[in-house]
Amino acid sequence: MEGKFITFEGPDGSGKTSIIKIVEKYLTEKGYDVMVTREPGGIAISEKIRDIIHDVNHQDMDARTEALLYAASRSQHLNQKIKPALALGKVVLCDRYVDSSLAYQGIGRHLGLENVLAINMFAIDSFFPDLTIFVDVRPEIGLNRVFSHDDREKNRLDLEPLDFHKEIYQGYLELVKRYPERIKRINGEQDKDSVAKDAIDLIESIL
Ligand code: TYD
Repeated sequence: MEGKFITFEGPDGSGKTSIIKIVEKYLTEKGYDVMVTREPGGIAISEKIRDIIHDVNHQDMDARTEALLYAASRSQHLNQKIKPALALGKVVLCDRYVDSSLAYQGIGRHLGLENVLAINMFAIDSFFPDLTIFVDVRPEIGLNRVFSHDDREKNRLDLEPLDFHKEIYQGYLELVKRYPERIKRINGEQDKDSVAKDAIDLIESIL
């Protein structure tokens, strides 16, 4: 029995993490074997790479280095954690995956979508999710959420100017058009329970 691989995407402050928690609880209560994980990270090697990328002291990190590190972290995480869980029949809910690199590094850092896709095709060996849920929250609203919660960890990317986040948002909209079968958009500006309900409806349609 093969599990299902579901990823969540969206701009910073889109509320993915809270939505994933609600979805996890719901699916677990329904009897599914669920595993929640996140990128970049989820396992020791990938978490270490994450720390290097997100360190606010690393302002001089080259954009290509950043893209390669995310891809390296992704490869390890996929092979060490996600694929084994899928082989056990689990429903894997992953906070960010390849589309984050396409939007943030490809579009946000201007490395080019095709270039970033190419290094990621190598990293993931063309292994795409069964479903990707794009939590659509406009960048102004997302960033406002990030900075109004003092307890939220702020990383090197959160500190980029609004224009960077606007480009990423446009990048996501482009990805939704490019992969209409795989990426489904939900309105992330509703109350949390309604957003989670929309995510659950999409997930149940593929389970
Ligand atoms: P995180 O603190 O996990 O934020 P969030 O809760 O918004 O996911 O940090 C992830 C950050 O890394 C976020 O700013 C997006 C960025 N990122 C990329 O730029 N490229 C990638 O491939 C991934 C996975 C994340």
